Amino acid sequence: MSGYRPPGSTIGVLGGGQLGRMLTIAARRMGYRVVSWIGAPDSGPAGLADSIIEEPFDCGDGLATFLDRAEVATVEFENIPKSLLERIVEKVPLMPDAAAVGICQHREREKCFLLEKGFPCAAFMVVDSAVQLDAALGKLPDNGGILKTAEFGYDGKGQVGVNRGSNAVEIWASFEAPRAVLEEKIVLAAELSVLVVRDQAGHTAVYDPVENIHRDHILDVSIVPARLDPAILAEAGKIALGIADALDYRGILAVEFFVSGDGRLLVNEMAPRPHNSGHHTIDACETSQFEQQLRVLCGLPIGSTRLHSPAVMLNLLGDVWVDNDGNPDWPAVLALPGAALHLYEKHEARRGRKMGHVTFTAATLPEALANQAEARRILGIPALL
Ligand SMILES: Nc1ncnc2c1ncn2[C@@H]1O[C@H](COP(=O)(O)OP(=O)(O)O)[C@@H](O)[C@H]1O
Ligand SMILES: [Mg+2]
Repeated sequence: MSGYRPPGSTIGVLGGGQLGRMLTIAARRMGYRVVSWIGAPDSGPAGLADSIIEEPFDCGDGLATFLDRAEVATVEFENIPKSLLERIVEKVPLMPDAAAVGICQHREREKCFLLEKGFPCAAFMVVDSAVQLDAALGKLPDNGGILKTAEFGYDGKGQVGVNRGSNAVEIWASFEAPRAVLEEKIVLAAELSVLVVRDQAGHTAVYDPVENIHRDHILDVSIVPARLDPAILAEAGKIALGIADALDYRGILAVEFFVSGDGRLLVNEMAPRPHNSGHHTIDACETSQFEQQLRVLCGLPIGSTRLHSPAVMLNLLGDVWVDNDGNPDWPAVLALPGAALHLYEKHEARRGRKMGHVTFTAATLPEALANQAEARRILGIPALL
């Protein structure tokens, strides 16, 4: 047990994106210091850390500096090499640990973990050659499948839709990955996520499940409370807590779910860190997902996960800048009731790149949804279907 670390202690964050930035904001608000190892020379979102290490993750000097400064460590990005995590944990407590991150960062290990522990997920086959892919394609159901790289996928990258008639040789040649998971394609009735926090002693708390709507495989909006059957939501919460226990997890864990057209609740994937679908917790919950991560790292009690207002979180992708000549109308967005704007200080707006988000809270969910719809109109984001 690594115990209590008082304000003034330094937490080490691996990764340089917006999740680390928002964790840093929570940490600094509470008087903690942050060292961010970002692994590259672009310090945009990580700019609020007390110190930044730019050396690549395979650099020994970078590791030495990180270990020298950090009293406890965490990841804001799951694709940190597992071997590096294992070296860090020899010197500094790491939460979540290398084993948990190692499962969540690798689709094959993740799927096998779910299957072995009895958590429901989409049917899948592991493939590592064109011949295996050809055989696996022949076994796909009518609805087809999605081929996903085992590692380094995000926002739908490293994924391709396939069916029984697909040309395995061509697909495999274009797929630059040594291993992949072929998954049945689910007819989606809805997508959900559940955030769970589990502390150093194994106490847990769960947030209200979130309804997620994706566009082009990227999260578009998150809606809380989710507009779904309460029995399904309760089951999702139970499964997410069960996964956190099965991983002997420390920190904040996000579990993504599919609800299929035929009513099945399936685990899609896990993220061993704060999650895009949990950003509403900053403005709509008693304790944000970022503060929870800090609390677990520093041996503080878990905070209340209570939702104090219905909320709709709208992601702001680079498209918003590109389509508004670099100058979105923030005054108009912020004139909408209950709007909380979060921008990540990324230097360059590219289509599909997450640049910020705006959360709408209101007394009722329909009001929050209506204000969100108006923000889409102002920013030129296509309306929700
Ligand atoms: N098996 C599937 N059936 C239907 N839709 C899927 C399936 N797998 C992924 N998707 C869609 O693609 C999105 C992104 O896929 P996901 O596996 O979560 O990868 P990542 O979030 O790492 O890019 C999902 O949220 C879902 O909308
Ligand atoms: Mg996902």
